[in-house]
Amino acid sequence: MNTEIIKIEDGKGDISTSELSLLKKAAEILKSGGLVVFPTETVYGLGGDATNPSASEKIYKAKGRPSDNPLIIHISRPEDAEKYAYTTDIYYKLAERFMPGPITVILKARGSVPEKTRGGLETVAVRCPENKIANKLIELAGVAIAAPSANLSGSPSPTKASHVIDDMMGRVDMIIDGGECDIGLESTIVKADEDGSLCLLRPGGITVDELSEIAPVRLADAVVNKLKDGEVAISPGMKYRHYAPKAPLVLLDGDISDAISYIGDNAKGRVAVVCYTEDKESICKALPNVTLLELGELGDFDEHAHRLFDILREADKMCFDIIFAPLPEKRGIGLALYNRMIRAAAHTIINLRR
Ligand code: TXA
Ligand code: MG
Repeated sequence: MNTEIIKIEDGKGDISTSELSLLKKAAEILKSGGLVVFPTETVYGLGGDATNPSASEKIYKAKGRPSDNPLIIHISRPEDAEKYAYTTDIYYKLAERFMPGPITVILKARGSVPEKTRGGLETVAVRCPENKIANKLIELAGVAIAAPSANLSGSPSPTKASHVIDDMMGRVDMIIDGGECDIGLESTIVKADEDGSLCLLRPGGITVDELSEIAPVRLADAVVNKLKDGEVAISPGMKYRHYAPKAPLVLLDGDISDAISYIGDNAKGRVAVVCYTEDKESICKALPNVTLLELGELGDFDEHAHRLFDILREADKMCFDIIFAPLPEKRGIGLALYNRMIRAAAHTIINLRR
């Protein structure tokens, strides 16, 4: 398949007339059942018409994704959810506070969403992105757009157009290059429980503290723990190995001096260390042969989130034998980092705390 790449400045400012005509072309592709990769404030999405089962089928194929893992449908205005799902009071409370933005809400699906898009579930995941390119594209298409992250299944989500090009050239009709995604981790996914509380299925840009302003929040077990053998996942995506770098990733839970001694004692071959800016010098001195991958300044969780997937992809290109990284704190967007990193590490965490 021939993939056309178009460039649009960024998703924050106003869209110019010439950009609008490019987006109209992209919308036509979507309307006729084709696939368009577009930027959002979280990660790039691989979009197709959510009401067209053959478009959803193409999405699964392009990603190499199991078809029982449902797709999020993207709308340009929160009230458009009515056409695809049975909305609730809590949906509108969340929408008023966080939409458009990095939140996805699970609702009971209407018949307008084909089974293929829903991965066979009775529910559908609804998200209204804030990124102007994404939002305008959906509006122009005039229909909800199903869009998983635009990576090949199992690799880190794309946060830059170059990541998308690496994974999706020849697999989609069009790629919209809209620069780097702001947040860099996927949206927060919630489901309202019958008692009115919220169950957090995937942490993301909207934090637990923010959600708690709307309703009490419960973390689904798999957010911070390993799914037990035979346990049924509330969100099908939980059961798949995700965000996996090619080299084994080991998370170190302890201070930097203990981490340095552990790496010194255990590292063999080509070694990478994911580190905070402040720790670069001491690691370099003690371990001159390792390659450092910088996450950003200590405590700047937004920056860590913004860089994580790019770092994991860079690491893949450099063919390391092993990667060490600090275990993130579970505060704020740190919880989302923690969730992604324990999965990337297949739950390998070394406790260095005495
Ligand atoms: O930020 C995002 O959410 C990005 C951008 C492109 O919008 N999309 C994204 O989609 O991350 P995807 O497909 O990579 O991840 C969606 C997750 C999957 O783990 C899937 O299992 C879960 O959402 N999911 C989708 N529909 C669901 C449903 N009805 N119930 C529970 N989980 C659902
Ligand atoms: Mg994904």
